[in-house]
Amino acid sequence: MTVRPTAVVTGANSGIGLETVRGLAREGIHVVMVCRNQTRAEAARADIEASVPDASLSIVLCDLSLQADVRRAAAEIEATKERLDLLVNNAGIMIRSRQVTTEGVEMMLAVNHFAPFLFTTLLLPLLQASAPARIVNVASWAHSMGRLDLDDLQATRGYGLFGLPRYGETKLMNILFTRELARRIEGTGAIVNCLHPGNVATNLGNPPAPNRLLGRMIFLDAARGAETTLAASTNTEYGDVNGSYFVKSEPGDHKLSAAARDREAAAGLWVATEALVVSSPLRPHAGPS
Ligand SMILES: NC(=O)c1ccc[n+]([C@@H]2O[C@H](COP(=O)([O-])OP(=O)(O)OC[C@H]3O[C@@H](n4cnc5c(N)ncnc54)[C@H](OP(=O)(O)O)[C@@H]3O)[C@@H](O)[C@H]2O)c1
Repeated sequence: MTVRPTAVVTGANSGIGLETVRGLAREGIHVVMVCRNQTRAEAARADIEASVPDASLSIVLCDLSLQADVRRAAAEIEATKERLDLLVNNAGIMIRSRQVTTEGVEMMLAVNHFAPFLFTTLLLPLLQASAPARIVNVASWAHSMGRLDLDDLQATRGYGLFGLPRYGETKLMNILFTRELARRIEGTGAIVNCLHPGNVATNLGNPPAPNRLLGRMIFLDAARGAETTLAASTNTEYGDVNGSYFVKSEPGDHKLSAAARDREAAAGLWVATEALVVSSPLRPHAGPS
C-alpha cells in the first residue's frame, strides 16, 4: 500500500487553516489537523469530508499555548506517522490586552512564536527523514508594525494599543525564526518559508459582528486567503526556495521590513527563545549563506 504524503496543519478548524487543509486534501495529502477543541475539530473534519469525499484526515488535539501540550502532540505525531512531508504553522491569535498562560508565558508570545518554534524543532527529525520536506510559517504584513525587544520578550514593559504592536512583534518573530531556521537547515532536505496571506475575513481577533460583516465585504474569503499558504506548501516551482517571505503566492522578500531582514536579530531571537523553550540540537549551518 502506498503511503500518502503527510502534512500537519495547526489551527486547522477555522479560517485560513481550514481552507489550507481542504486544499491539501484535494491534492491527496493526508492531513493531521491540530486543533484545541474536539467539537470544533470534528465539525471542521466533517465540513472538509463533505467537499472532498476521499479526504484522508486525522485530528491531534493540542493547546498550543502550553509547551507541555505541544511536546505531547509532537510525540503523538512522531509515534503514529511514518512520514511528515509538510508542517504548516498556521495557528495564531491577536488579543487586545496582555494575558499570561498557566505556564507563565505572555499569551501571544506562547501561541504565535513559542509554539511554532517548539513544534518545528521537535518534528524536524521526522521532516528531514521524509526529505524533501517543507515547513511553512504563517506570518503577516503586520510584522512591519512590530519592534523586537529581546530584553523584554514577555512584553512586561508595554503591550501597545489594542495589542496591535505586540501582535506585529510576534509576526516579526515568525519571520526572523523562518530566516534563522532556513540558515540552520540549509542542505538538510527540509526548507522553510513564511508568508503574508492577504487581509482575510476570519475569526482572527474575535471581531464583533459589525466588523465581521465589513470584513466579509472588503477582505479575501478564507479560501483565497489560503492560496499563498498552499503555494508555499506544494507548488513545485518553489521546491528549492528557502527562507523566503511569500506574498500573493510567490516569494516577495522586497516587502519585508528592515527589522525582518536583520540577521543579528534573527540569531539573537533564536538564542533567547531556545533559553525559554527548548534545548535544541540545531546549530548554524557551516556553509555560505
Ligand atoms: N486573517 C487575516 O487577515 C490574517 C492576516 C495575516 C496573517 N494572518 C495569520 O493567519 C493565521 C490564521 O489565522 P486566521 O486569520 O485564519 O484566524 P482564525 O480564523 O482565528 O484561526 C486561528 C486558528 O488558530 C487556532 N488557535 C488559536 N489559539 C490556539 C491555541 N492556543 N491552541 C490551538 N489552536 C489555537 C484557532 O482555534 P480555535 O478556533 O479553537 O480558536 C483557529 O483554528 C494566523 O497565524 C494569523 O496571524 C491572518
